[in-house]
Amino acid sequence: MGDIIKLPPAKLKGTMSVEEALHARRSTREYATTALKLQDVSQLLWAAQGITAAAKGLRTAPSPIAVYLVQAYLVAGNVEGLKPGVYSYKPQNHGLELVKSGGLEAQLGTLGQQVFGAAPALVVIASLDDKASKTFGDFAVRASSLEIGHVAENVALQATAMGLGLVTASGFDNGKARDILGLPASETPVYLIPVGRMV
Ligand SMILES: Cc1cc2nc3c(=O)[nH]c(=O)nc-3n(C[C@H](O)[C@H](O)[C@H](O)COP(=O)(O)O)c2cc1C
Repeated sequence: MGDIIKLPPAKLKGTMSVEEALHARRSTREYATTALKLQDVSQLLWAAQGITAAAKGLRTAPSPIAVYLVQAYLVAGNVEGLKPGVYSYKPQNHGLELVKSGGLEAQLGTLGQQVFGAAPALVVIASLDDKASKTFGDFAVRASSLEIGHVAENVALQATAMGLGLVTASGFDNGKARDILGLPASETPVYLIPVGRMV
C-alpha cells in the first residue's frame, strides 16, 4: 500500500435535517469553478463509506452480511490540498491513497456527459465484482447494485446538506471509465458522482 493521506475527521453535526435534505436534493449538472475543500471531500467520502462502528468495521451504508461490496474513489480535479488525480478511499484510515496522478478532465469528458469533465471532483462508486461473485454467486449483481444505491444516496443527501450540487450518473461506458480511472479489472465503476459548489 502506498502513502495514506489522512483526511480531516468528518463532522457528526450539520445545519440541515435529513427531512430538509430529502426535500432539497436535486440533480445538479453545473457547478461554480470554485475549489472544494479537503473537509468537503472528507465529509462526502465518510458519508459514502466511513466507519461508524470501529469494533466491527461497520460503515455508514449497509451491506449484505457486512461483507462490503463497494470501493469508493475520489477524482480530484480542483480540491484544495490534493494534487489532481484518482484516489482510493480507505475507510479504516479515513484516508486516501493515490491510484493515478494528473488531471482527467479531458478524458472524463469523452464519456459522453459534459458534467464529468466540468466538476471540481467526482466520487466514484465501484463494485468489487470478484468479491461479490465469490460471496453471492447469482445474487452478486443484485447485491452490489442494492448496496451501491445506498452509498450513492448517502452521498447525495450529505452533499445536499452541505449546500453542494451533484448528480448520481450511471450513463457511461463502464469499461472505458475503468481504463480512464486506472481501476483494476476486478472492479466496475458503476456510479460517477460529479460534485461541486452551486452556481
Ligand atoms: C441509476 C441512475 C442513473 C442515472 N444516470 C444519470 C446520468 O448518467 N446522467 C445524468 O445527468 N443523470 C443521471 N441520473 C439522474 C436522473 O436523471 C435524475 O435523478 C432524474 O432526472 C430525477 O431528477 P432529480 O434527481 O433532480 O430528482 C441517474 C439517476 C439514477 C437513479
